Amino acid sequence: SRKHKVAVIGSGNWGTTIAKVIAENTKEHGDIFEPEVHMWVFEEEYSIPKDSKHANSDLASGKQKLTHLINSLHENFKYLPGIALPHNVVATPDIAEAARDATILIFNLPHQFIARACQNLQGKIVPYARGISCIKGVEVTDEGCELFSDSIGQKLGIYCGALSGANIANEIALEKFSETTVAYDPPAMDSQNPTPQGSPKTSSTNLPQLVFEDKPAPTKKKTPLQALPSEFPPLHHKNMKKLFHRPYFHVRMVSDVAGVSLGGALKNIVALAAGFVDGLGWGDNAKAAVMRVGIMESVRFGKTFFADSVRTETFTEESCGVADLITSCSGGRNFRCAKMSVQEGKPIAEIEERELNGQKLQGTSTAYEVHSFLLKQGMEKEFPLFTAVWSILEDKNRPEDIPHLLEPATAEK
Ligand code: NAD
Ligand code: 13P
Repeated sequence: SRKHKVAVIGSGNWGTTIAKVIAENTKEHGDIFEPEVHMWVFEEEYSIPKDSKHANSDLASGKQKLTHLINSLHENFKYLPGIALPHNVVATPDIAEAARDATILIFNLPHQFIARACQNLQGKIVPYARGISCIKGVEVTDEGCELFSDSIGQKLGIYCGALSGANIANEIALEKFSETTVAYDPPAMDSQNPTPQGSPKTSSTNLPQLVFEDKPAPTKKKTPLQALPSEFPPLHHKNMKKLFHRPYFHVRMVSDVAGVSLGGALKNIVALAAGFVDGLGWGDNAKAAVMRVGIMESVRFGKTFFADSVRTETFTEESCGVADLITSCSGGRNFRCAKMSVQEGKPIAEIEERELNGQKLQGTSTAYEVHSFLLKQGMEKEFPLFTAVWSILEDKNRPEDIPHLLEPATAEK
């Protein structure tokens, strides 16, 4: 029988970490997966830092292609410095080459780059490939608010699930214990039945699609999903879990793709608010208040706009919900940069540029995207925290205004 080839699309801080996790597993489960994991790298030149243990290497004399550094020294010096990568992670600068023949595609990029990546993959992947999106963000267009799992699925004509959790990448790269949630619920045709029958249950192509009311609902061309050929091991929860689960990275499999995707996207807005109040020196109670309202608004967003598929328990019981909110509001990049921006009185984009060495904040763009969507729905007031974060980023309000801006939410109870 054939084995699954796995490709990781993206090689940032989390992209490289997940490639490490997966490569450890493909080696361990050789009956299901090909050991080699191709990781698409957006090519750039980089110099090995002076404090690196590889500073005496022949490659340390000047700038080198990042893919060459990763493949020669098995370290992503720019986005995951100091972590040894398994030798079966192969960095590839050509996205189509990285994805060639892959039956499992893991999407792990800052969300602003995903549309272009999908464009470059169209027609270049095996038609029965399955995807998992590790992206924390939502895609807001004139047509509505879409999950990345859904939009990737539609753009590429494949089924795409989602992975999200309380997962600060550097901690997982150091193999410190954490949990994650993987949502995977492909149409029934995958379960040992190679013939697609009827329409998929909750596939990426039939998740409820919210459209702006003043525009007619676009009729999207639905590509019929192709069944996985029977010579491949089935991609059910048990085998999917084997791709991600490590002794230090515990996976819980669920079916609520929308809940998992939204938890990861929306908590980035909340983490900015937590950073704002912490930057003011207001202490843990203020942060907890922001987190409480944040989880409530996240559930409300899911229940309002993705009512058919979101489960409240995904937010309250799984790593992708409240646990991710807690970790992100404690030590995430969005939290840290928002805090510094208040402490130093500087725009958050300036702090991001200075502090993150090319890594990208997702909370700022998500705050704008979610705001533009809520505005179209006339529902900004129902989401006072999300609206407050947008308003502070826009300089229409100050972080000090947060208690006042949250008043409608807290007065309700
Ligand atoms: P990152 O913040 O490290 O961003 C850097 C990546 O962006 C690099 O791979 C770089 O090559 C790429 N890039 C830069 N310019 C590009 C361009 N023009 N086109 C294409 N790619 C370009 O990325 P990350 O941390 O791997 O985040 C990916 C996703 O994972 C995000 O949605 C993030 O929210 C989520 N996430 C991150 C963490 C974390 O701790 N880093 C944890 C969980 C989830
Ligand atoms: P940041 O992008 O804010 O670092 O959050 C990382 C994360 O998603 C932790 O689960």
